[in-house]
Amino acid sequence: MKGIVLAGGKGSRLYPATKVISKQLLPVYDKPLIYYPLSVLLLAGIRDILIISDPISLAQYKMLLGSGEKWGIRFTYAIQEYPRGLAEAFIIGEEFIGQSDVCLVLGDNVFYGNITDLMRKALSLKNSGAVVFGYPVQNPSDFGVIELDRSGNILSIEEKPENPKSKFAVPGLYLYNHDVVEIAKGIQPSARGELEITAVNDEYLKQGRLSCQLLGRGFAWLDTGTPKGLLRASQFVETVQERQGMYIAALEEIAWRQGFIKTEELIELGEQLRMTDYGKYLMSLVEGKSD
Ligand code: G1P
Repeated sequence: MKGIVLAGGKGSRLYPATKVISKQLLPVYDKPLIYYPLSVLLLAGIRDILIISDPISLAQYKMLLGSGEKWGIRFTYAIQEYPRGLAEAFIIGEEFIGQSDVCLVLGDNVFYGNITDLMRKALSLKNSGAVVFGYPVQNPSDFGVIELDRSGNILSIEEKPENPKSKFAVPGLYLYNHDVVEIAKGIQPSARGELEITAVNDEYLKQGRLSCQLLGRGFAWLDTGTPKGLLRASQFVETVQERQGMYIAALEEIAWRQGFIKTEELIELGEQLRMTDYGKYLMSLVEGKSD
């Protein structure tokens, strides 16, 4: 399975903070926002990842992440000239996807919980179709909303409905088979002029090939779309890291635990950041202090 991180959008709800910098480069506590969705892909064992962003920000993502070799993974980069919607990621990524299955994660979505287990279960559901997740929120109208029957079958999926049929929002994490490219090419722009991911999911639903996995207690899916959301996400990360001494979305650590890089390589990466708690944490892993 391949991965795509879409780090586009204007981030206008965060202006002026995002006037000249891509939202997904802003820090969530001690690391750039994009590290968090990337951690989901790495935890799912995905090592071939396409990063999509606007032309100016893409150069900065390249500076930040490089080829991926240092983490034992491979990054490819592609431009989205204008934010025409999430589903455009599959059209831009057509060549990259080829005949593979693909996991799309939005560059501004922060997840916390047993991601490895979650992704393992989701992959078993996929069955040559698509999988979305459902997460209970108090403001479903701000998101894609999924309606399920008692047995967990999907009845409907709607984008930002005024009268939501359930409290389950659809987070920005999706699994698809390679048909997603053709499906994305076939959808029409919505009223807000975007190729909606919900339209893609609705097409899978109509074809009887959409599954849903609910995320319940024990999982955090945090909003980073507003200054308050961003602050709360930072506070959440700081609280968990400070209490447990275990870092969230430390990509070097995940790469090491997944066996993508060797212990010597982890030490080297930690040494480069030794002036920070983050670097010291990476080095402490090897000494067995943070297991
Ligand atoms: C997008 C999707 C929406 C999804 C949300 C998750 O919304 O369109 O279905 O629930 O991401 O973050 P947008 O960021 O475009 O408002």
